[in-house]
Amino acid sequence: MNDAARLFEIFLDIQRGLPRQGPGCAEATREALALCGALPEELSALDVGCGPGLQTMTLAEALGDALGRPIAALDKYGEYLTQLKASCAARGLDRLVAPLQGDMEALPFAEESFDLIWSEGAAYIMGFAEAFAAWRPLLRAGGCVAATELTWLVAEPPEEAAQFFVEEYPAMADVETNLARLQAAGFEVLGHFTLPDAAWWTDYYTPLEAKLPALRARYAEDAMARDFVATSAREIEMRRRYPDSYGYVFFVGRKTD
Ligand SMILES: C[S@@+](CC[C@H](N)C(=O)[O-])C[C@H]1O[C@@H](n2cnc3c(N)ncnc32)[C@H](O)[C@@H]1O
Repeated sequence: MNDAARLFEIFLDIQRGLPRQGPGCAEATREALALCGALPEELSALDVGCGPGLQTMTLAEALGDALGRPIAALDKYGEYLTQLKASCAARGLDRLVAPLQGDMEALPFAEESFDLIWSEGAAYIMGFAEAFAAWRPLLRAGGCVAATELTWLVAEPPEEAAQFFVEEYPAMADVETNLARLQAAGFEVLGHFTLPDAAWWTDYYTPLEAKLPALRARYAEDAMARDFVATSAREIEMRRRYPDSYGYVFFVGRKTD
């Protein structure tokens, strides 16, 4: 196995079994959905990079019979989709969610297939601007997009936080830049808001932090994996120290003519 493949295995191991694969909460998902306003009857929706899909299930519960077909829940990695299938079965949501393994860089859908495109914590994989540009043709006229993005909340972040994210996410931008990216891709801004701090902890950092001692023990003899685990611990520490400097921000827009 080469270094990249090995790093990815370690990443999956660190992230395995978490309720979410990034910050999020049901209240924020519902708030973003409300910003979309009235949606068409028999609507069709896509969740890109759904991961274990807590937000997909929140959407399914909120939209219910308004859905003309199950939400297409797309992720590249089968194990998250297996987790999503089990959760949907447990919550009686099977008929409202259709898990689909695929690559967001080559979405297997015809133009104007969806009324709603959702993506929590995954647009960054393509680039925030690039993701909006790629999704726009897939939306029907008046369709909505809602996506979260790691975003600077202050003009001059503390040096330690700035340095950490220059290394970990150099494309990280401020709210105005991300709003401009949404508009430049052909969307009218319907709203944006920062997720509450609890959205970082309850389903993400708290269970991730609980795994760290076992991960350190498992990888005691493995320098590459130990470094990776240390970066996860440091990321959590950044959040503890600088919660006001950056956040996960929901951006919601409607496709313009
Ligand atoms: C930060 S996680 C967010 C997952 C989920 N939306 C959540 O909030 O729990 C990003 C997700 O994107 C998926 N992903 C990464 N690259 C992808 C790609 N090229 N195509 C589709 N999904 C991808 C990952 O497997 C992961 O589930």
